[in-house]
Amino acid sequence: MAIVMQDIKKQYAGTSAPVMEHFDLTIEEGSFTVLLGPSGCGKTTALRMIAGLEEVTGGRIFIDENDVTDVDPGERNIAMVFQNYAIYPHMTVRGNIEFGLKNYQIDKEEINERVNYVLDMTGLSEYADRKPSQLSGGQRQRVALARAISKSPKAFLMDEPLSNLDAKLRIQMRTDMIQLYNRLKCTFIYVTHDQTEAMTMGTDIVVLYKGMIQQHGTPQEVYNNPSNLFVAQFIGDPGMNALRLSDGGYVGFQPRLAQFGKSENGLNLQGTVLTNEFMGHDCMITVDIGCGSIVMRRRETRKVGEQVSLFIPQENLFYFDADQNRTGTVQTGEVVSVFHVDD
Ligand SMILES: Nc1ncnc2c1ncn2[C@@H]1O[C@H](COP(=O)(O)OP(=O)(O)OP(=O)(O)O)[C@@H](O)[C@H]1O
Ligand SMILES: [Mg+2]
Repeated sequence: MAIVMQDIKKQYAGTSAPVMEHFDLTIEEGSFTVLLGPSGCGKTTALRMIAGLEEVTGGRIFIDENDVTDVDPGERNIAMVFQNYAIYPHMTVRGNIEFGLKNYQIDKEEINERVNYVLDMTGLSEYADRKPSQLSGGQRQRVALARAISKSPKAFLMDEPLSNLDAKLRIQMRTDMIQLYNRLKCTFIYVTHDQTEAMTMGTDIVVLYKGMIQQHGTPQEVYNNPSNLFVAQFIGDPGMNALRLSDGGYVGFQPRLAQFGKSENGLNLQGTVLTNEFMGHDCMITVDIGCGSIVMRRRETRKVGEQVSLFIPQENLFYFDADQNRTGTVQTGEVVSVFHVDD
């Protein structure tokens, strides 16, 4: 199902400023759309308004071209999975899934069929008779997913569903989630502040900051073609380095594209190695360039304290104007300082 948020305004009662205003977002049918942004930017609020769990202050919401702004959550054909998945500890896995279906007008046989289907799909068949306390965190999260799937929704809304899991399990669940999406072929809307999660799972990424959409594109688009400095520094592992220039503009470069040495055709910098973290495949090296420090991610390594020359080839430089928006114009000022959007 396609979802459209049109000119949405949201202001919580008793607060002095809206969380968002003139917010327009179109979510394509069948996409895996990730709402990505830092804490407090309005991700959960946006998701809850789509689900109907939160009223809009202004604007309209459409699902498959029907105006659902005033439609109850239960009638929107949407399933929501939360960070703190509410599964009942006294019921078995099977019981938890059945319970979610009890308000639906379907007979016992169909309930059984559906439960078996989702148990199979989420890899929980052999755990059907266990209680949640006898499951791992990832398996419990899958019970919550299974229960949501059993209702055959047309769209899945998920608010940081993996944030309770440890790092290894998160990576495994990421793969599970992608497989689930490929099998269900319905619209997924997924909220996270984790850019790696967004980049690995999403077909579409909506980068949010302070209640505003900064960019909406594929993972490749937001990484290779960020529309402003916020996106450039939020996306990537780590994000782009940015240098403020004397003419008011900025020049940015990805940590992987800075090289040791000098070049006639590019930006040359010099500095001292501050830290050197071994990451397995490559190293994360921070270099103090006098007006702040930048990060490089390279296969080769340098010692802490070593003086280094580095350069970024001209074709790998990104330019931003004084308003921090991307520009094709080469900015020629002197480097004044190292810049971070969050500061
Ligand atoms: N019920 C509420 N009443 C008043 N203000 C609220 C309420 N819920 C959220 N807010 C405020 O609205 C803004 C957006 O909150 P929201 O929960 O949507 O952020 P988020 O992007 O999901 O953040 P996080 O990553 O921390 O979950 C925040 O400034 C928050 O303090
Ligand atoms: Mg949230």
